[in-house]
Amino acid sequence: MREPAEQAARVIAAARRPVVVTGAGMSAESGVPTFRDALTGLWSRFEPQELATPAAFRRQPDVVFGWYWERLNSTLSLLPHSGYTALVELERLLGALPIVTQNVDGFHGRAGSTDVIELHGSLRAFRCDREGHDFPIESVLALDGPDAGGLLEPPSCGICGGRIRPGVVWFGEMLPEVALRRAGRLARECDVMLLVGTSGVVYPAAGLPSLALARGATVVEINTEPTPFTGLVTIAIRSRAGDALTGISKLVSSMKVTT
Ligand code: OAD
Repeated sequence: MREPAEQAARVIAAARRPVVVTGAGMSAESGVPTFRDALTGLWSRFEPQELATPAAFRRQPDVVFGWYWERLNSTLSLLPHSGYTALVELERLLGALPIVTQNVDGFHGRAGSTDVIELHGSLRAFRCDREGHDFPIESVLALDGPDAGGLLEPPSCGICGGRIRPGVVWFGEMLPEVALRRAGRLARECDVMLLVGTSGVVYPAAGLPSLALARGATVVEINTEPTPFTGLVTIAIRSRAGDALTGISKLVSSMKVTT
C-alpha cells in the first residue's frame, strides 16, 4: 500500500487537466489571519458581518476602508510559504495548473502561479463603488494609512467621483461571474483536483469537489483536519499544506524525470 502523498503524486504526474482549489488553510500557514482573526486591535469591536458588507461601506466608509488598508499592508509584509512555490513548480512540470482560490491575499500570484481564479476577489484590487472603474493599488499604498482611530477616508474615483472600495466579495454580494463560471467548468472538466486547506462549508467553492467527483475525477484533499469531504475524496492527506505540497511536487518532479 503506497503512502497517500505518493498515490497523489502518481495521479498528478499523469494528470491531463489538473486543477487546484485552495482555502484559508493555505494562507494560514503564511501567517495570514483568518477573516475573523483579522478583526483585532482597533477593529475588534466589530463582527465580520458589520464590516464586510456594502451597507457598512455606505454607512462608515472610513472604518471599512481603514480596515482593508490595514489588511492589505499586513499581508504584503508576509511571504508565500513553500507550498505556494511547490504549486508554481507543479505548474511548470504539468504545463498548466489553474488554481481556484477563495483567498483574497493574492499569494498565489505573488509566488508566481500564472492562472489564478480569485473567487472572492482580491485585497489588491480596488475599484469605485459607482461605475466600477479600476483604481491602482500603488495609489492606495501611497495613502498615509488609517488615523489613530483606525479611520481612513477612501479616495474618490478620478473618472466618476465614486468612492474607491476593495475588490473583495462582501457578504450579500454576487461572486464574480466570469470567475465562477470558469471554476465550475474547470471542476467539471478536470481529471485531478487538489483540494487544499478548505473546510468545505462555504459555497459555491464547497460545491466544486462534488462536481469533479461526479465526473469521475480523482480528488486529493490536503487538510490538517477532517472535513465534510474527507470521506468522499479519493485520497485524503492529513498534513499541513506546505509540507504536503512540497513533498508531492518533489515526487512529481522525480517521476517526470524518470518517465
Ligand atoms: P475555513 O477557515 O472555513 O477553513 C480552513 C481549513 O483549512 C480548515 O478545514 C482547516 O482544517 C484547514 N487548515 C488550517 N491550517 C491548515 C494548514 N496549515 N494546512 C492545510 N489545511 C489547513 O476556510 P475556507 O474553506 O477557505 O469568505 O472558507 C473561508 C471563506 O469563508 C473565506 O473565503 C471567507 C469566509 O467567509 C469570504 O470572505 C466571502
